[in-house]
Amino acid sequence: MSAYTAAAWQESWDRQQEGYLPDREQRFAAMLDAVEAVSAGGAPRVLDLAGGTGTISLRTLARFPEATTTVLDQDPVLLSLARSSLGGDSRAAVVSADLKSPRWAEALPHTEFDAVLTATALHWLPGERVAALYAEIASLLRPGGIFVNADHMPDDALPGLTKLLTARADAERTARQATGAALDWASWWARVAGDEELAPLLPERERLYPDSTHTEWNPPASWHVRALRDGGFAEAGILWRGGTDAAVIGMR
Ligand SMILES: C[S@@+](CC[C@H](N)C(=O)[O-])C[C@H]1O[C@@H](n2cnc3c(N)ncnc32)[C@H](O)[C@@H]1O
Repeated sequence: MSAYTAAAWQESWDRQQEGYLPDREQRFAAMLDAVEAVSAGGAPRVLDLAGGTGTISLRTLARFPEATTTVLDQDPVLLSLARSSLGGDSRAAVVSADLKSPRWAEALPHTEFDAVLTATALHWLPGERVAALYAEIASLLRPGGIFVNADHMPDDALPGLTKLLTARADAERTARQATGAALDWASWWARVAGDEELAPLLPERERLYPDSTHTEWNPPASWHVRALRDGGFAEAGILWRGGTDAAVIGMR
């Protein structure tokens, strides 16, 4: 682990992500409201999918002290930070797996979850893989369990407004990053490269993500809702919307 505390790295990751998603906490709160609604006993078993540093797990455990959570990701740097934050917590597990592989679920410590939650991640996968993944996730949920995916998902009924909302968000982000109110992605990773404990993990990260900018695939929310229904969810719809981002939900 780094010479700096896990809490400080979590905070800087949050500030960097909020530079791109100023309403990031709102989507997490909406997700956890839905988890609360379907978890009568207050002890949900949650899978934090492509969870990075464990953002969703940390918020889940803070809100539901009886919860258990599993962070799954493949990035060695972010998983190292997740382990530093959650490794000593008996309620949490941290596992490495590649969601491009249909065998990713073999890395999990459980075969059934109350909720699978993911944010700002599945746009890294090609569309046909996301559709297949939705069916794989459905098979991991108990009946009545939920899956929530928050990401960039415009409303295809609003093409003109989407352009205007995107331009506004771009201008706000540019200003916040230019003034130092938020770190940009490249600057955050430059800090990792300057950390003598985390830097040795970067070659493996670069092997996994060879392009400095990953491919982004951002279909409208309606695509995701259809794919959830096709994937076997009994109910599917939009849980939250903020500008051109949304969180779609499927209930098994
Ligand atoms: C922008 S981060 C978001 C992390 C976290 N959900 C959050 O909101 O802070 C996207 C995450 O998706 C993960 N990811 C992308 N492709 C993946 C794959 N094929 N398998 C596992 N994780 C993947 C990345 O490693 C990264 O941690």
